[in-house]
Amino acid sequence: MTRHFLRDDDLSQSEQSAILDLALELKKDRFSTRPLAGPQTVAVIFDKSSTRTRVSFAVGIADLGGSPLIISTASSQLGGKESPSDTARVLERQVAAIVWRTYAQSGLEQMALNTTVPVINALSDEFHPCQLLADLLTIREHRGELSGLTVTFLGDGSSNMAQSYLLAGAVAGMHVRVASPVEFSPADAVVADADRAAQTTGGSVTLYTDPIEAVAGADIVVTDTWVSMGKEEEKAARLTTMSPYKVDSQLMSLAKPDALFLHCLPADRGYEVTADVIDGPQSVIWDEAENRLHAQKALMVWLLSR
Ligand code: CP
Ligand code: NVA
Repeated sequence: MTRHFLRDDDLSQSEQSAILDLALELKKDRFSTRPLAGPQTVAVIFDKSSTRTRVSFAVGIADLGGSPLIISTASSQLGGKESPSDTARVLERQVAAIVWRTYAQSGLEQMALNTTVPVINALSDEFHPCQLLADLLTIREHRGELSGLTVTFLGDGSSNMAQSYLLAGAVAGMHVRVASPVEFSPADAVVADADRAAQTTGGSVTLYTDPIEAVAGADIVVTDTWVSMGKEEEKAARLTTMSPYKVDSQLMSLAKPDALFLHCLPADRGYEVTADVIDGPQSVIWDEAENRLHAQKALMVWLLSR
């Protein structure tokens, strides 16, 4: 049966770990595996802006011997003019996989239900699972085993990044803490799913409103923009409400002395994180951005071999 990657807990702990192992191998020997030789085409569709996702999928598909077809929704029939299910049926006759950055998770689910080729979530309002594979790869490279590590996400707990940290971290057996204002808490259903995953892996999931309590003794500190794509109209209120969750050197000093700092980028220096932290010695953001390439290549190899 076709496997898709729509949310982080679509992978079991052992599957997630196998993909990260493969990513490390592909990072060492970048052109060793060519499942897309032909070249076969992979459709990469964007309803929202992107730099890292666009580049890493285009480069990764080419590295695997394939040909990326980058589609902007604005210049296609998708996005109000044609349904995800009809689009899926058209694409599956011609492409090896579909990668889609969109708004509602339900569109991805509709796409996946109506196609025989793997569908990959390249960011939705709810989740950013490809980013999490890159983040976990980065943490593994710097810290070894993921299981048992404590990761604290600060800021917009309702964002795709926070919710993906909950799911992917729980699947990896990590202790995931999310600190946010109450009105920006993660969705109850996501917390419940993460909690269920954590119970099978020995991880845990805890929500906080106090950033100081949440960051105490953490191995990894993570944040993301306070104004995700699609939330621009709420910008002023969000900047005010989330200001206590800014990651500055004082907050960072409460985590473990060797704690890593991660941010998926793009960043708003001075808002969710100060320049001295994101550009400082504990930050691994450039490894994290590069690892999008290796992690997504491993994901595509794995999905295409199912
Ligand atoms: N981190 C991330 O997904 O970046 P882009 O929006 O540039 O793709
Ligand atoms: N949470 C951010 C991530 C950008 C990569 C957004 O959705 O805009």
